[in-house]
Amino acid sequence: MHWHGMELPAVFDGGPHQTIQPGSTWDPHWRIVQPAATLWYHPHPMGRTAQHVFRGLAGLFLLDDDEAPAGVPSRYGVDDIPLIVQDKIFNADGSLSEEASSTFGIMGQDILVNGTYNPVHRVSTGKVRFRILNASNARMYHIGFSDNRPMTIIGTDSGPLPEPIVADRVPLSPAERAEVVVEFAPGEEVILHSYGGSYDLDAGDFDLLKITAEPTLRPSPELPGRLASTPPVAAPPGARVRTFTLNGHDAINHQEMDMHRIDEIVPVGAHEIWEVENHVYAHNFHVHDAAFRVLEAEGDVPPAFRTGRKDTVFVAPKSRVRLAVEFGKYADPVHPYMYHCHILRHEDAGMMGQFVTVEPGTEDQARR
Ligand code: C2O
Ligand code: CU
Ligand code: CU
Repeated sequence: MHWHGMELPAVFDGGPHQTIQPGSTWDPHWRIVQPAATLWYHPHPMGRTAQHVFRGLAGLFLLDDDEAPAGVPSRYGVDDIPLIVQDKIFNADGSLSEEASSTFGIMGQDILVNGTYNPVHRVSTGKVRFRILNASNARMYHIGFSDNRPMTIIGTDSGPLPEPIVADRVPLSPAERAEVVVEFAPGEEVILHSYGGSYDLDAGDFDLLKITAEPTLRPSPELPGRLASTPPVAAPPGARVRTFTLNGHDAINHQEMDMHRIDEIVPVGAHEIWEVENHVYAHNFHVHDAAFRVLEAEGDVPPAFRTGRKDTVFVAPKSRVRLAVEFGKYADPVHPYMYHCHILRHEDAGMMGQFVTVEPGTEDQARR
C-alpha cells in the first residue's frame, strides 16, 4: 500500500518492492512531519496498479495540524466533506468492465463519488469545504458548478495555499487534489459538475454531485486572508537540474521502469529543479516523498492555484513543466522511491523511474 503525498522512509513507502503476501501482515510506521494536507493511499504493485485502483482500492489520508487558521471549515462530515471521484464502466449486469478504450487506458462514462452512483449531499452550513481527489485511472476533470458560482481554492495536493484563490474551474488530472470552499444559499440545489476539455483524457461533461441546501443554514465565519505560514517550495540558484522526457506511454528518458535499476540518486532534503518534457500526448508526473512547486507550465507561469505544495502535475501535450522540488529527509541508499506518470496504464507499462535519497556526499556509494 502506497501513501501518496507522504514524506516517509522508503521501506514504508509501499511501492512495488513492498508486496504483502497473502495471509501476511505489514506493519509500516513513521512519524508524520509535514503540513496538513489531503493525502491518499492505493496499492502500487508492479504492472497492476491500474487494476487495483479501478476496482476501488483507493482512500483518503487526511492530515491535520495546529496551524489551521480560524475560519476554515473543518468539521468532518458537517462542513468538511471528502469527495473521491472515479470513473467506471458498468456492464448491463452491474459488473465492472475493465476494457481499455485508448492509450490512456480505462475511461468510463459512469462516475462514482465516494463509491456512490448519482450521489446527493445535503449541506447545513453557509460555507462548505470539499476535499476533492481525482482517483480515476486516466480521466481528467475540470471541476466547477452548474451555475458557475465561484469556488475559493484553499489547498492543493500537499498542503494549504498561502492565500485563498477564487476560481470557477479547477482542473484535476489523476491523483491531484484540491480543497475548495463554496457558499450556499438556504434551500437551493446546485450540481458539482465536470466540464469537458480538449486533451482526450478530459472529454465529456459529467454531473459529479447534487447538492441540496437545508431550508436554514448555520452561518459560517469569513475565510481568513492567510492560510499557511510554510514558505513556498523554492530551489536555490545553482540548484541541480534533472530532465525527464516523456515519449509514447511506457518510458521516461527512453527507459522502461526496471525494479533493479536506480535511475537517480538525490541527497536527502535536497531542493532541485526537475524539468519534465513531454513530446507526445497528455501525461502527468508524480514524485514520491517530495513536495514541489510548479515554476513553469506550457511556457508560462502557472495559474496561482498551481503554485502551492503539490506532488502531481498535469503535463499538457508537447509541453514542458519546470518544478522546484523539495525532497524528504530519510536516507536509504538501497530502497527506492518512484516517480511516474499517474495515468495508471502508463505507470503499469513502465512510464516510471526510481530514485534513492542518501546522505549528502555519499551519492557515489549508492547502488546503481
Ligand atoms: Cu499515487 Cu506512485 O503513486
Ligand atoms: Cu505517490
Ligand atoms: Cu502518461
